[in-house]
Amino acid sequence: TKAANGSGNPRDFITKMKEGKKRIVIFYGSQTGTAEEYAIRLAKEAKSKFGLASLVCDPEEYDFENLDQLPEDCAVFFVMATYGEGEPTDNAVQLMQNLQDDSFEFSNGEHKLDGVKYVVFSLGNKTYEHYNLIGRQVDQVMTKMGGIRMGERGEGDDDKSMEEDYLEWKDAMWDAFAAAMGVEEGQGGDSADFAVSELAEHAPEKVYLGELSARALTKTKGIHDAKNPYPAPIAATRELFQSTEDRNCVHIELNTEGSGITYQHGDHVGVWPSNPDVEVDRLLCALGLFDKKDQVIGIESLDPALAKVPFPVPTTYATVLRHYIDISAVVGRQILGSLSKFAPSPEAEEALKTLNSDKEEYHVVIGNGCLKLGEVLQLAAGNDLVAPPTPENTTAWPIPFDIIVSAIPRLQPRYYSISSSPKLHPTSIHVTAVVLKYQSVASSRVPPKWVFGVGSNFLLNLKYAASGEQPLLASAVVPSYAIEGPRGAYKSETIYKSPIHVRRSTFRLPTNPKSPVVMIGPGTGVAPFRGFVQERVALARRSLEKNGPDALADWGRISLFYGCRKSTEDFLYKEEWPQYTEELKGKFSMHCAFSREPPYKPDGSKIYVQDLLWDDREHIADAIVNGKGYVYICGDAKSMSKAVEEVLARILGEAKGGSAAVEGAAEVKLLKERSRLMLDVWS
Ligand code: 2AM
Repeated sequence: TKAANGSGNPRDFITKMKEGKKRIVIFYGSQTGTAEEYAIRLAKEAKSKFGLASLVCDPEEYDFENLDQLPEDCAVFFVMATYGEGEPTDNAVQLMQNLQDDSFEFSNGEHKLDGVKYVVFSLGNKTYEHYNLIGRQVDQVMTKMGGIRMGERGEGDDDKSMEEDYLEWKDAMWDAFAAAMGVEEGQGGDSADFAVSELAEHAPEKVYLGELSARALTKTKGIHDAKNPYPAPIAATRELFQSTEDRNCVHIELNTEGSGITYQHGDHVGVWPSNPDVEVDRLLCALGLFDKKDQVIGIESLDPALAKVPFPVPTTYATVLRHYIDISAVVGRQILGSLSKFAPSPEAEEALKTLNSDKEEYHVVIGNGCLKLGEVLQLAAGNDLVAPPTPENTTAWPIPFDIIVSAIPRLQPRYYSISSSPKLHPTSIHVTAVVLKYQSVASSRVPPKWVFGVGSNFLLNLKYAASGEQPLLASAVVPSYAIEGPRGAYKSETIYKSPIHVRRSTFRLPTNPKSPVVMIGPGTGVAPFRGFVQERVALARRSLEKNGPDALADWGRISLFYGCRKSTEDFLYKEEWPQYTEELKGKFSMHCAFSREPPYKPDGSKIYVQDLLWDDREHIADAIVNGKGYVYICGDAKSMSKAVEEVLARILGEAKGGSAAVEGAAEVKLLKERSRLMLDVWS
């Protein structure tokens, strides 16, 4: 493949760098866009600090093996996320392979990357075992090949402190970078990434009003993936919790008939939400754009290699805020500094500067208060944050829209474990989502308020709309426009739609039904296991039909450990399990821990799934050790899955005649390596 290198080869990053006079190449391994954002930020900072241009590369789009041809005055950055159980993100699989096979080793007895200057920022989540493994591996290999790291390796924890980790790391890194590259700060200027223009003339049918791809607007056929989501009609919806007024769990069935979309049990579905009206209005008002919200705008990238316009254009101000960028997230500390110069008054400027520079103040007021950009602008200008926002009660800040587009990340899809099996529901994808809603912590500056998760409240409101009900939560309402969408794209007559795509997973049942299976999924962690059980039910029906009543005799036991608060309150799919049990002819057993109803433990504490596992330890050990069984854990990553793994280690340690800490832990590790213990957990 190397023979094809040269200026004509779009996969050759070295030539691209030379042509664009770029001295930095930044590779990012990104699954949901976070690592990509940090890659772009590093590029922007290199530009504004040192006047150096960067090539930001999705490693999937470039050949990586010619890294050894990187000119001496250049540097390579790696911004690498670790995904799942210590795996590279999909787009970095090839890059990791290139780094790890021998392509860079010892040609003519020399390290081929001798003297290559590099930087690593790795992203991960401390609640997972292999924290930042990929970034560490890249660092190790680069050093081994003779590369020279500039500054420390940055490590960001997505669970708690990604932004602060980044801010704390980058200054020393840039100092080391400046020294190694022989450049000085202050050579750059303040450069915008995008230019926004208001268009007078435009064809209405070519304006994007929430469509997520060019194909969606032109209605041309094509496969549906993350780059071209499918607006799936909502086939059915219902509430899964009984008698709870303030907690919701929605079941939604997405109709994929005729879309070409297929899925497997255990896959995830990405749902593309939109922002609630009240937040769209708030930011429109704070930017002084409320009266121009439907103005058609064009957006161009000033440096397409550095930053692509992240959504389709031309579009409108309101559409960008509603459908394309994440205005509902808690606003980051760094952006407040650059926005302060557009303050409408010296007081507002001062207020924003303080929130930018005073970490503690930022944490207490914005972090704990869960304030979005619109709310922070209102707060700094002394506006009322509680009243519905209008141009009259909200001060307008003359912030150029291109800064907003550059600074706020794109609205990302929310992923849910699919709760159905394609064998029972070939053209329908089921989602089981508990609705996220909590109170923020008040500070002396802001009262407490309800915070609504964007994705799950979007689903809840789709449910209300699709079933013609009145929403219960006034402030979480995503009124008609957002749900009906552009030109009714998300709604036709009475059918509502949600843009979706499927993401493949490896969370799958063993193909042989003789293998015993243990599934642990309290709360909505049960979602994929409903799919698993349906998968087995479909197989059982076929086998019974073909081979008669004893067809399941040699099947392994399938056990589901489920937990919720009360059997009468939040027992998900309570009415379905008896039928599955019957159809699986005694091979399926369900073990339920109802944490907030009797019986409790002798000391009065709650009974959880891990306690039931321990009670059933003889079966579990037999299934795993003798039956070569498979174990699956789904749900909360923070406490539940850890506690379950600990109990598994205890059970296996005991079975091996040793301890939980030594033999047990070794068994758990081995099971993971052999993909016989699999996790689908979230925090
Ligand atoms: P709780 O809320 O009564 O404490 C689904 O959320 C179920 O998981 C609930 O019954 C919840 O109990 C329970 N749960 C909470 N923390 C847990 C943990 N660390 N391990 C196992 N189950 C837990």
